[in-house]
Amino acid sequence: MRIRVVRIREIRDESKYVKTFLLDTSFEFTPGQFIMVWIPGIDEKPFALSSKDGFTVQIYGEFTKKMFSLKPGDKIGIRGPFGRGYHLKKDSKRILLISGGIGISSLIPLAEEARNLGIEVDILAGFRSKDYMAFIERIKSLSRNYLIATDDGSFGVKGFVTDFIEKFLKKHYDQVFVCGPEIMMKKVFDKISFKFETQYSLSRYIKCGIGICGSCVIDGKGLLVCKDGPVFYDRELLGTSFGYYKRDEYGRRIYFK
Ligand SMILES: Cc1cc2nc3c(=O)[nH]c(=O)nc-3n(C[C@H](O)[C@H](O)[C@H](O)COP(=O)(O)OP(=O)(O)OC[C@H]3O[C@@H](n4cnc5c(N)ncnc54)[C@H](O)[C@@H]3O)c2cc1C
Ligand code: FES
Repeated sequence: MRIRVVRIREIRDESKYVKTFLLDTSFEFTPGQFIMVWIPGIDEKPFALSSKDGFTVQIYGEFTKKMFSLKPGDKIGIRGPFGRGYHLKKDSKRILLISGGIGISSLIPLAEEARNLGIEVDILAGFRSKDYMAFIERIKSLSRNYLIATDDGSFGVKGFVTDFIEKFLKKHYDQVFVCGPEIMMKKVFDKISFKFETQYSLSRYIKCGIGICGSCVIDGKGLLVCKDGPVFYDRELLGTSFGYYKRDEYGRRIYFK
């Protein structure tokens, strides 16, 4: 798929380290799908769509710092949407969304879709601190029950999302959707998978984004995050490197501690 050049229409500050970039184009997409964003002379990186016309960025290294220096009217290159997003069953009555950090950005459009279908949504969202938060008003308005946790207690309750899961599990959920750091997702997996039907959005090093280069492989079953995922059912992740290690841009293993 060719790169399309688009303009940034609006930039919203979500918090000190998170911004949403709204574009002068819109995408037909399934929540959980991602686009490749290209800044000429810098790099091309994957970002989940947080709405039909935008994506949300947490500042990290060179690429995201450059994103933060862009202004409305600036041009960027886009490929996608790519990958397999979340599978929301239209007959679900109640779903639970669990996010860690910037993982909330792919779950917000899912919450919107669910609410439009009359599905009850509960949200458990964790952030490092108030400086890394995003979509707080959307979390409140879209959910029936929500809990926001920060690692340092600077907003909401103090602690990790995994400390509060039991509060939610007294109810039955038809589907559970999880997006966040892999260590957190593995803890959630160990607590709830196979008790509830659960889907996880994974991150691996994306280069081509279209299933050619093998950079984003999950060892064990040869699943490709860019093509078979990024969203996987719990059963698909059994017998894979999920929760144990990922590979960096050179293919070296990086173990989760
Ligand atoms: C499917 C998918 C969806 C994503 N959605 C979002 C999102 O909605 N918002 C957001 O802020 N971030 C998202 N990311 C992560 C985002 O791609 C990285 O934050 C970004 O590439 C960091 O680049 P950098 O140069 O600023 O930092 P770097 O210092 O280069 O990298 C920081 C960390 O980002 C990750 N990363 C770097 N390059 C890549 C790459 N090519 N592919 C995958 N991970 C990489 C690595 O874990 C690395 O350790 C997503 C990643 C994937 C795989
Ligand atoms: S990034 Fe190339 S196969 Fe997935």
